[in-house]
Formats: sequence, structure tokens, C-alpha cells
Amino acid sequence: MEKKKIAVVFGTRPEAIKMAPVIHELKKHSHFFEPLVVVTAQHREMLDQVLDVFDLVPDYDMNIMKRNQSLSDVTAEVLKGIEAIFEREKPNMVLVHGDTTTSFAAALAAFYQQIPIGHVEAGLRTYDKYSPFPEEVNRQLIDNVTDLFFVPTDETKQNLLSEHKTEAHISVTGNTVIDAVHYTKNTQRRHEVLSLMESGPDQRWLLLTMHRRESYGLPMKNVFEAVIELMDGYSDVEVIMPVHLSPTVQSLANDILGHHERVHLVEPLEVDIFHRVMAQSFIVLTDSGGLQEEAPALDVPVLVLREKTERPEGVKAGTLKVVGTDKHDVVTSLKELLENEEAYFNMATAINPYGDGQASKRIINQIKQYFN
Ligand code: UD1
Ligand code: UDP
Repeated sequence: MEKKKIAVVFGTRPEAIKMAPVIHELKKHSHFFEPLVVVTAQHREMLDQVLDVFDLVPDYDMNIMKRNQSLSDVTAEVLKGIEAIFEREKPNMVLVHGDTTTSFAAALAAFYQQIPIGHVEAGLRTYDKYSPFPEEVNRQLIDNVTDLFFVPTDETKQNLLSEHKTEAHISVTGNTVIDAVHYTKNTQRRHEVLSLMESGPDQRWLLLTMHRRESYGLPMKNVFEAVIELMDGYSDVEVIMPVHLSPTVQSLANDILGHHERVHLVEPLEVDIFHRVMAQSFIVLTDSGGLQEEAPALDVPVLVLREKTERPEGVKAGTLKVVGTDKHDVVTSLKELLENEEAYFNMATAINPYGDGQASKRIINQIKQYFN
């Protein structure tokens, strides 16, 4: 069989983390596949951190990031720029991930050139078009042009079946983020945040991240104020927040959280360090998608700072609790976990529903079968 050229396209930090294990696996099958790594660089610094940890060098780097970029900026730049790359390289398949604007625009460009599309982490849904925004609509649009669906769980498969997608085109693989967690376990690098945590072994460390567009403004302000309110009653609690580079997040976090001695605002962490920080945290507080999948694998309870989640498996398993962004609700949920040992134990010991770290292998096997 002639080698198949597989273009793997991504642009943001979480896509890179979740596609890196797929690229590693493609490279192991070099007699079948020629991987072509295309980064849009919708993110710049946060993407480069991941490329570095996973030792990846892109074949194409579109370098599109602008400060405070609008969704139209990203969509237009990716759509137009990637057209030329696909025309030149003529990939046999394009792989995109999840629900970012990079993934949506790349899938649309592949569709226009009638190139088969594989969607990694397909099928997640809230069925609320503004939550998360614009990701819910991005992933629905991507799934309308997808040929091969790689879904993390049976629940996600059901979403696609209810949308009348063809069952034979759907594979339940687990989430590749668990593959990534297995990979980062092997690095031993040090970081000052790890030293900080080790310097206070009796402290309880809360890991906070927030970045969603629908959280900008009041929801984020409420959560940050809730954290400050809580701190006064618990002298053994410290907060670590690696602050997303979005200028909106930076400014709110600095204004509200930047002046408390037990709240530590740090730069985005490299993912291997971040996983170790998470593993040593007492509670994760987040509106992130990826963290909702990683924390159950690292036995840390997650309070989800959103009204809805597309990850109901984690809620059912007991690791995730959707608390929203109301100040009082956030404080109450935090206090419960800090004071009620049984509630804490139940969340921390729930089973991880997102896979066994072999998702990338299953994805590559399915792609092989597709070409056979
Ligand atoms: C994007 C994705 C979101 C994903 C998130 C992961 C879309 C619409 N959103 O949101 O689904 O959850 O990434 O983090 O695709 N910035 C930098 N350096 C970086 C990264 C970002 O300076 O390395 C700043 C830039 O000013 C940029 C802003 O952050 O304009 C926002 O980045 P953008 O990619 O537009 O949106 P995110 O909120 O990061
Ligand atoms: N992450 C990281 N460094 C950080 C914060 C997060 O490497 O300082 C990783 C985290 O392990 C997860 C991913 O980034 O795999 C989540 O990215 P983000 O929350 O930005 O996006 P989402 O998952 O919500 O799309």
C-alpha cells in the first residue's frame, strides 16, 4: 500500500496536548503513514510549551496569533492559510481535535477540498449553543463534515447516534489526554511551583484555572471574589492559579487575586509540571474542559465553574461537581469539600471514565482499517 499522508492540524494548548500522543503513534507506523504536522498557532507561547514537552517540530507553522484576536480573525486566517497547505500537500486525511476555531476552520477547509476528515474527541455536546461558546457550535459543525469519529466514551457515541451518524464510522477510543498523562509521568523536571508546594506539606492546595469566553466579566469576577472570601476562614488553604495569557483573564486575575499572600498567580505551566501540580492539589477549581478529564485520572475532585458540562461521565462517576459561578455556591461547595471528609473521599476515589491511555493506538488502528 502506498503511504498515506495524514495532516494533523492544531493550534491551541489543549489540542496540542491531546494530539501529541496521536502524532507519536503515527510516527511508530512510518511504513503506513507520513504524518504532516500543521500548527495554526492560534496560541503562541502556550502552544510552544507543549511542542517542547512532546518534542514535536511542525512541518508548517501558520503563526496566526494576534493579541485579543476575534473569532472572525482566527476563522478567516486559518481557513485561507490552510487552503494553500492542503493544495500543496494533498493529504489523504486531515485529523482535527475537539472544538476550537482552529479545528472548525481546518475541517471546513478539508471539506472544501473533499479530503476525508477524522475528528478526535468527537461527539461531546451540551446542546446549548452559547455554553461553551463558541465551542458547542464548532464541534457540531465539525461533526457534520467528519468521516471518522473518534469518541472518548460510550455516552459520547450515543450523542452521535442520536444525530443519525453512521455507527460504523464511530470508534470509542478513550480520551487521548489520558495517553498524555501517561507520557508526562516520565519527565522529572523541577519547577519553583513544585518547590513551593513541597515547602508547605501541611497546607491544602487549590488549583484554579479559568479562561472560557462565556466566563469573561461577572462569572469570573464572582469566582475570584469567592476564593478571596473563602481564604479568610482557612489559614491552611493556598491557591495556585496558572493564569491563561488571554489579556481579559490576566487583568481580572491580577486585580482581584493578585494581592493575597496565599494566592499564587503564576505563568502558564508546562504540561508535565502542571500534571504534577494537579496530582498534589487538594481540589481543582476550573472551567477548563481538559482538566475535567485529567483530574479523575489523578484522583483529585473537581468543582466545575460552569453552568453545564459536556463531560457527564465525570459527574456520574462522582469526580466532577458542576457548581456554576454564583459566589455563594462556589464558597459553599468549597467549604463542603474542605470540611466533610466523606464527601471529599467519595469524589477523590471515583473511577476515571476517560480511558486507559491507549486511545491513540485505537485511533491509528481505525485509520489503518479505513484505508484498507
Ligand atoms: C481557545 C479556544 C478554547 C480553548 C482554549 C484553550 C477557540 C474559540 N477557543 O480559547 O476552545 O478552550 O483556547 O486554552 O478556539 N494568548 C497569548 N498567548 C498564547 C495564547 C493566548 O497571548 O499562547 C492570548 C492572545 O491575546 C489571544 C487570547 O489569549 O488573543 C485568546 O486566545 P484565543 O485562542 O482567541 O482564545 P482562548 O480563550 O485561548
Ligand atoms: N495546562 C497546562 N498548563 C497550565 C494549565 C493547563 O499545560 O498552566 C494543560 C492541562 O493539563 C490541560 C490543558 O492544558 O491538558 C487544558 O487547557 P485549557 O484549560 O487551556 O483548555 P480546555 O481544555 O478548556 O480547552
